[in-house]
Amino acid sequence: MSQAPNPDPVQPLRDSMARQERVLDAARGILAVFDAHQSQFRLITRRAEARFLLRDWRGSQQDAAERLTLYRQFVSWCVQDLRKSLGDSTDDTPLWVALRRAYAREAAPRLDAELALTFFNSVVRQVLKAVGPEAGVYFDDRDFQELRPLTSAQPLRAYPGGRTLEAMIRELLADLPFASRYPGRDADALLIARALAEDLARQPRPALLETIEMVGVPFYRNKGAYLIGRVRTSEGVVPLVLAIVHDAAGIRVDAALTTADEISVVFSFTRSYFHVEMDCPRAMVEFLRSLMPRKPLEELYTSIGYHKHGKTELVRALLRHMDAHDATFVLAEGDKGLVMAVFALPTLNVVFKIIKDRFGPPKQTTRQQVMEKYHLVFVRDRVGRLADAQEFEGLAFEQARFAPDLMAELGAECASSVSVEGDHVIIRHLYTERRVTPLNLYLRQVGEARAIDAVLDYGQCIKDLAAANIFTGDMLLKNFGVTRNERVIFYDYDELCLLTECNFRDIPQSRHDEDEYSAEPWFSVGEHDIFPEEFRAFLTLPGRIGEAFMAAHGDLLTAEYWRRMQRLAEVGEVVDIFPYKASRRLR
Ligand SMILES: Nc1ncnc2c1ncn2[C@@H]1O[C@H](COP(=O)(O)OP(=O)(O)OP(=O)(O)O)[C@@H](O)[C@H]1O
Ligand SMILES: [Mg+2]
Repeated sequence: MSQAPNPDPVQPLRDSMARQERVLDAARGILAVFDAHQSQFRLITRRAEARFLLRDWRGSQQDAAERLTLYRQFVSWCVQDLRKSLGDSTDDTPLWVALRRAYAREAAPRLDAELALTFFNSVVRQVLKAVGPEAGVYFDDRDFQELRPLTSAQPLRAYPGGRTLEAMIRELLADLPFASRYPGRDADALLIARALAEDLARQPRPALLETIEMVGVPFYRNKGAYLIGRVRTSEGVVPLVLAIVHDAAGIRVDAALTTADEISVVFSFTRSYFHVEMDCPRAMVEFLRSLMPRKPLEELYTSIGYHKHGKTELVRALLRHMDAHDATFVLAEGDKGLVMAVFALPTLNVVFKIIKDRFGPPKQTTRQQVMEKYHLVFVRDRVGRLADAQEFEGLAFEQARFAPDLMAELGAECASSVSVEGDHVIIRHLYTERRVTPLNLYLRQVGEARAIDAVLDYGQCIKDLAAANIFTGDMLLKNFGVTRNERVIFYDYDELCLLTECNFRDIPQSRHDEDEYSAEPWFSVGEHDIFPEEFRAFLTLPGRIGEAFMAAHGDLLTAEYWRRMQRLAEVGEVVDIFPYKASRRLR
């Protein structure tokens, strides 16, 4: 009589240990790729100082563009690795749940743990395309909250008081990494001390200076380097930013900024990201937040180059906000767009933009082209005039949170991006932008003096962008907005292009009267031809506002102005529009 072979009692245990080992290997593998990303990110960031000292502005633009491509590259490498190592089990959800747990343990001690969790989420999203948050494989709000609180905050260099302000600033400038290349720094210390003393004297209560504390490394961006810190006084803390430039005359501090609003403009969502070395982004962001309490966390992460984690923070803030405020998505205020369906939460400073399935006339663009324009804005210098747009895929919200007219619009116009599954609305693709007040609405809300300021800044916005080789395309007021700091910015990108791609023409003289009255132009018009004289149709504003605009910006209606800007762009000069008022410059 033969007996069935006895099942090995230790085998299940062995299997489970093998599985655990695989999980741990995979977790460490993902973390290793993340770590490589961080090293490469740091390597590029570290080039900024040399670029600044060599005045290699093209190089610094290349670095900025290169750094923006890293994340996607490393995520896709990581996904390839995992597909190889996990083989058939890539879509084994319980395995991913275990992986998530192992990864959390491995990542927790890192100084950049929150970025590591965001990286994991990006990888999972790629591997398990169809799995929603309920599967328990993503890190969520609670995981981010649980990260070890920081024991060591951002290190600061302290310059104690008990001596003249000038002596303190002199020491501070001597600590710059490029102090030896900055011979004028003692003379500048005097100018800065005077400006700072004036600002301190303007504080609400007389204050005794205690210490100045600065981040030890400059924040680099375009042609500027910014030293960021704060002044401690007997009455509290005053932020301090020293803006440093390097031109043919050498290195010098160009401005000293001391209010939260001014610093907020330096860190604006309409600017490219800083290149600044740090060990602990969390600590840096906490410190920056102490200087600019109103700036959302996600914008601070984004401003120092961690825009992917900025997206995590935005979603966290959004979900928390929806829980706390019982808020409903509604159509955005202002004129509807032909290309984008735009909605917002009344109590949050963010708009959501979904590309429509079809665009009404006269739009001739395609979905792909619209996405390319938004990408162009993402990778270019936004010179303080273009709102940063973050791209999201696969967001889900309860349908009950959508106003009925918004739901109707999304159903009618955005069916290829939006679907309803159960009681959830699934959005396959959208952009978020900071919400601003559309300029057409703003002009109706404010008095004449503020309206004049706004239209002057509107013209300046078009000109700043032109100086950076960007033609806005659509110049209607409804495509511009006014920020909290009353700066005019542009947010509608589907017609945006480079100045150097356009052909700016004067309208030819008509040969016969009938030319003038014919409905079609009597001259041939190429695809890229633009006739600035035609801008009169929308740049003509009523009354004194219009007069002020024309007096300052009438040249926008001449082809000559645009051709001149085009020639400058062709020469290839890199422009930087500095993020402070001319009146704040030290000289
Ligand atoms: N960042 C923003 N802040 C506030 N409102 C916004 C923002 N972006 C868009 N809007 C609102 O949504 C409308 C449509 O947005 P947008 O102009 O980007 O879309 P569009 O379809 O490209 O427009 P157009 O038809 O002019 O090309 C705007 O007119 C404005 O009222
Ligand atoms: Mg528009």
